[in-house]
Amino acid sequence: MKKKILVVSSANMDMVMNINEIPIAGETVIEHGTYSYVPGGKGANSAVAISRLGGECVFLTKVGKDANADALLELYKKEGIDISYIKRDESAPTGLATIFVEKSGQNRIIVFAGANQKIEKETIDDALDISLDALYMQFEINHDAILHAANEAYKKGIPVFIDAGPADKSFPLEKLPPLEMFSPNETETLGFTGISPIDEDACLRACYELKKRIKAKYTVIKLGAKGAYVFDGEDGILFPSYEIKAVDTTAAGDAFTAALTLKYLECNDIAEACRFANCAGALTVSRHGASSAIPSFSETQAFFEKINK
Ligand code: RIB
Repeated sequence: MKKKILVVSSANMDMVMNINEIPIAGETVIEHGTYSYVPGGKGANSAVAISRLGGECVFLTKVGKDANADALLELYKKEGIDISYIKRDESAPTGLATIFVEKSGQNRIIVFAGANQKIEKETIDDALDISLDALYMQFEINHDAILHAANEAYKKGIPVFIDAGPADKSFPLEKLPPLEMFSPNETETLGFTGISPIDEDACLRACYELKKRIKAKYTVIKLGAKGAYVFDGEDGILFPSYEIKAVDTTAAGDAFTAALTLKYLECNDIAEACRFANCAGALTVSRHGASSAIPSFSETQAFFEKINK
């Protein structure tokens, strides 16, 4: 039976610019590279990942009444995502992200949240009434929606998984209920703990700092090219990532946490889930784009088998 995951999170249209250099203040830089509009948003990227990797995804978000929303909704339907809980806002535009991708594949993102900030509690309550295996969220939507969804899901016994992107130090972590998993990346870990997770010792210290503010069965720090550090409340272990040529890191974290969540729900083994998620993350950085870069189950499984043989 497929695992059914409710994603309460963001949808954006991404304007991606492949650049050589970031202008300094007051400077104009002419680029001869390419730019494109592609579907993105941390929530949508994760929803696409869950669906492509073999899960059943119900995506709850808010978009505007504009052409960007029409294009995004079309894609979600094509991906087999349940869009019954996606509402359209009269006054706010669909979220927009401007993404600068440097030659190394590293990115810088600015998000205009738009309708993502207007998700309503009533829609969340309706969605939590269906039978679910998990609730999955990120921090790219309004705080009250996140706290409401997490606490209501917890009361109903639905396991809650949170990817802590994007870094938002003002998020009141203490108000979250006990989680199944909390997954920040390096920047988010630094933001929430003041500790930069530069090595395993620093990761462990950061996890203990986080433990003071949040109860999570597993804390998983995403370390980019270095892999992921999994903390079980007592001790931690590093799962190194797999070597691959990175062309664009956009959505890799979203694909990783979504794959980790789905695989963990399926096999109940955090180590296996983490190895699988590292494969999904690696394949995502090897391609350009956000949602479009996310691999299917068969691609991820083939990569997993190749590196583990
Ligand atoms: O994590 C990548 C995503 O962050 C992009 O798709 C962009 O929309 C921002 O939400």
